[in-house]
Amino acid sequence: MRDEFDEPEVPAPVGEVNADAATLEAAEAVANAAVLPTVPVVPDTIRLLNRDFLTDAAKLPDASIDLIVADPPYGLGKDYGNDSDMRSGEDFLAWTYEWLDLAIPKLKPTGSLYVFCTWQYAPEIFVYLKSKLTMINEIVWDRRVPSMGGTTRRFTSVHDNIGFFAVSKEYYFDLDPVRIPYDAATKKARSRKLFEGSKWLELGYNPKDVWSVSRLHRQHAERVDHPTQKPLEIVERMVLASCPPGGRVLDPFMGSGTTAVACARQQREFVGYEINESYCAIARERVSAAAASAVAAGA
Ligand SMILES: C[S@@+](CC[C@H](N)C(=O)[O-])C[C@H]1O[C@@H](n2cnc3c(N)ncnc32)[C@H](O)[C@@H]1O
Repeated sequence: MRDEFDEPEVPAPVGEVNADAATLEAAEAVANAAVLPTVPVVPDTIRLLNRDFLTDAAKLPDASIDLIVADPPYGLGKDYGNDSDMRSGEDFLAWTYEWLDLAIPKLKPTGSLYVFCTWQYAPEIFVYLKSKLTMINEIVWDRRVPSMGGTTRRFTSVHDNIGFFAVSKEYYFDLDPVRIPYDAATKKARSRKLFEGSKWLELGYNPKDVWSVSRLHRQHAERVDHPTQKPLEIVERMVLASCPPGGRVLDPFMGSGTTAVACARQQREFVGYEINESYCAIARERVSAAAASAVAAGA
């Protein structure tokens, strides 16, 4: 029997349980909390759908999206745990035009689209898109592939092509959050009277259209279990420059959820589609961790 003069009851530290039943129970709860996996908590603003974009796109309202970041299968036979990358040639292009026709009407008049592809199909895809939208840039992603043996019958390919298109000339674009700051030495070297007070010198320069960002090799800290996961740095740059704060991003082929993570970190809404349930689970984990860090950082 305890009375008001007793010490308050505290759970015994794990591994130091005594025979008191209540204390034992409390200790067990603490121990279980330490080993039970935490369920990912995905914010309401981020919708991760384990669905086929082509069959479900009709449910998404037209003119509701600020930015589409599309990283589809490239038509090169990658294994995504399904046969989605087994189309090639005309078949692949017909499928590409089909999903583009479903995606484009979702954009607002100020909206834009980035599409990842490779040199094998970029010419046809860009010509098709130019008949529907305004082409703003072709961005070359230099994957920083190390120089090794490689092929001997042509030059080794080390880049992906990214098409950047807009619905109209009034497309949203904010360079400031994606400017690259100068280091002190370069800044000093450019500090001629002529440049004094220039915004580009103070805030940083335009990232230009060749983005040299390391691919995510197996040992990379960011890498999860997806064969063609894109670096967050690249996708976050697209989100910051081309979606207004609080705006809405669509990723029709979300894979491990890189675009969703960028949106959770940068307070944008997100809707994404992925047919492989294990990739959706990875996306849930990644978004939940990103959202928790954003809250901890006071965002
Ligand atoms: C190139 S990967 C996307 C990778 C992603 N950007 C990332 O960083 O993880 C393409 C993804 O599209 C998925 N996919 C293929 N066809 C699809 C469809 N019709 N609807 C939704 N997802 C699809 C594949 O399973 C694959 O994970």
